[in-house]
Amino acid sequence: KKYVLDLKVSSVEQINDKNVLIRLTDDKPLPEMLPGQFVEVRVDGSPSTFLRRPISINFLDRDRNELWLLVATIGDGTRALGRLHVDDKLNCVLPLGNSFTLPNRPDERILLVGGGVGVAPLLYFGKTIKDARATPVFLLGARSASDLAELELFKAYGEVCITTEDGSAGEKGFVTNHSVLSKEHFDRISTCGPKPMMMAVARYAHKASIPCEASLENMMACGVGACLCCVEKTIEGNLCVCKDGPVFDTQKLMW
Ligand code: FES
Repeated sequence: KKYVLDLKVSSVEQINDKNVLIRLTDDKPLPEMLPGQFVEVRVDGSPSTFLRRPISINFLDRDRNELWLLVATIGDGTRALGRLHVDDKLNCVLPLGNSFTLPNRPDERILLVGGGVGVAPLLYFGKTIKDARATPVFLLGARSASDLAELELFKAYGEVCITTEDGSAGEKGFVTNHSVLSKEHFDRISTCGPKPMMMAVARYAHKASIPCEASLENMMACGVGACLCCVEKTIEGNLCVCKDGPVFDTQKLMW
């Protein structure tokens, strides 16, 4: 079931020069949402922002009844989101899309690989994995240390491995070169971030015979499978990222 809700902004936090964390709440308990699903928010105010913006669910804090959205302020619409104030209303359609594959045994070790603002859904997914008594390991990539977001929060749920392109934090290089890949065993990999990174992760996983899924970030407009602007070629034909995804088994993608 989908809901259209006017959620109330409870805080807006600039967490580095690219990302803001918007926490939203409601008088009623927020609906069920699964990790990997997303929200379409309506951005009011500027002519280029009449479309809704898809934003992944960063975290669901049941204790405080808060939904967290981590937003990279890179375009008009997302910059307008960064200018929201406490007590403003944000019209949201949620929850949309499918979810990451949830753990099915407690001894499962799941590697969550994120890059850039693509780390966002992995926080809620990591918590969900830990709640199911399985083990999440985070492998987060960024250009530079200052681009890393929510590190302390990730550490609350599992081991955090880092790569940066400039070597300013963690190991220097790309996520697929991190030493944890050769040292530890993983049953599955889930990834979200820039497409070249996810493609490299998928190639690594296929070679190592580890099941892998990726959350795609194709351009979206309607968010409900009507406009076809988000299609991705798969072995099952063209699928809508918004409705059939955003999470896909990477073996099904034509990468
Ligand atoms: Fe319109 Fe996916 S965004 S079909």
